[in-house]
Amino acid sequence: KIIILDFGSQTTQLIGRRVRELDTFCEILPYNKFPKDDPSVIGVILSGSPYSVHDPEAFKVDLSDFMGKIPVLGICYGAQFISQECGGKVEQTGTREYGRANLATVNTDNALFKGFDEHSQVWMSHGDTITAIPVDCDIVASTADVKYAAYAFRNIPVWGVQFHPEVYHSLQGFELLKNFVVDICGSKQSWSAASFIDTTVEELKNQLGNDRVILGLSGGVDSSVCAVLLNKAIGSNLTCIFVDHGMLRKNEYNKVMEAYKGLGLNVVGVDASDKFFNDLQGVTDPEQKRKIIGRDFVEVFNAEAKKITDAKWLAQGTIYPDRIESLSITGMVIKSHHNVGGLPSDMHLQLCEPLQWLFKDEVRRVGYSLNMPERLIKRHPFPGPGLAVRILGDVTREKVHILQEADDIYIEKMYNYIMADGSSLYDNVWQAGCVLLSTIRSVGVMGDERTYEHPVALRAVTSTDAMTADWAHLPYDFLSDVSNEIIRKVRGVNRVCYDISSKPPSTIEWE
Ligand code: XMP
Repeated sequence: KIIILDFGSQTTQLIGRRVRELDTFCEILPYNKFPKDDPSVIGVILSGSPYSVHDPEAFKVDLSDFMGKIPVLGICYGAQFISQECGGKVEQTGTREYGRANLATVNTDNALFKGFDEHSQVWMSHGDTITAIPVDCDIVASTADVKYAAYAFRNIPVWGVQFHPEVYHSLQGFELLKNFVVDICGSKQSWSAASFIDTTVEELKNQLGNDRVILGLSGGVDSSVCAVLLNKAIGSNLTCIFVDHGMLRKNEYNKVMEAYKGLGLNVVGVDASDKFFNDLQGVTDPEQKRKIIGRDFVEVFNAEAKKITDAKWLAQGTIYPDRIESLSITGMVIKSHHNVGGLPSDMHLQLCEPLQWLFKDEVRRVGYSLNMPERLIKRHPFPGPGLAVRILGDVTREKVHILQEADDIYIEKMYNYIMADGSSLYDNVWQAGCVLLSTIRSVGVMGDERTYEHPVALRAVTSTDAMTADWAHLPYDFLSDVSNEIIRKVRGVNRVCYDISSKPPSTIEWE
């Protein structure tokens, strides 16, 4: 495997994804956690960082752990750090370089740049600049502004690149990473969805034996793929619990239950909507709403789980981005899980997380390989508290019903809108949904009647990880069609708006 040491760059995860796209297993670890005694490590990549190597708080690593032992690639800060530590020089030249640049010279005889075009476009993002490289290094690429865009050590397999090969704007960046991972490190490229399924099913059989396992299903792709994988390994020893809090999308509970049964899963469905609506009565504060739903969910799930008295394991569809210890300027932060409900401690369950090494796109690849229905695999993310966080003010069955109708029109039309390249609009959007602005009323006219009803806001965003998002530039004819149909068909709604806010500073959900 390849180890990616994270010095806190925004694009560290992207390096991981690129390496996985090369069918090579990799792990992203905090900069100071290199696994010294692991013989399966075939190469190391040092990421960029928000720090300058001269900052007193800059992250430092002992290079002797791996330098000279296995191939090393330093990217941006990584390249500057290696250079600085080995006798080169890094200086603040005053100009921050950000954006596209073209290579002016490149040595394509160097293994890292094999196959590179003469003026290949690269993406720069740095404040400091390397002004001298260590004496035992050669320049392998430069741009008009950056003399040491890439350097290589003469006698050991260590490279530094000032630009970011992991981003798409470095047009041959993927080739560079391929040269490093495959040619230089010698990856056999044996990491694939099919091989993942085979080895994971085998491992799960060994790990779980004849034990009983409980899994919370949400209808989303992660928990569903997790369930199918476990079902393949242990069959009827897996019991899945699917809680209906009454705030799912239109007919979703029934559709998802049917899909799960079609997949041969043993699912217990729990309709707990009365409890949730009851406890939410009159509550208008968004955080309060979230807390009540979270608490009720744990209560309902645990009560159901406890009925399975011989259960030994709780399985969860946690995926890699949920687990990566991301570095922040204020110190180490571990991303909090959305999908961990809190275990009934008196049950003494052990955790089983078979998808914990996968990125979202890999989970989808595994889903296809398991022959799961496409609609389930491609499903947009949906918040745990459901439509409750898409209704301003208090939540009632009636409001949920109005929102379900509007949302159903919006999403179905999005599915059926085919783009010029043949793909569905739905697949070009990270996430979409309607928000009922039920604390607002406005005047309208329908036929000869005056109306005084609520607006619905449409939300659609593009994103790769939900950490940042841009509003999706949906076609006008699509928006017009959706608006007409919602106002015509959904009673209680007389106006449709489109939310054109990005995250940050807005969030994807309204509450
Ligand atoms: P925000 O609104 O913070 O949402 O930009 C980021 C992503 O997380 C989803 N989301 C949730 N998912 N439980 C979940 O499982 C939650 O409580 C929750 N709140 C927000 C949201 O839909 C988006 O994909």
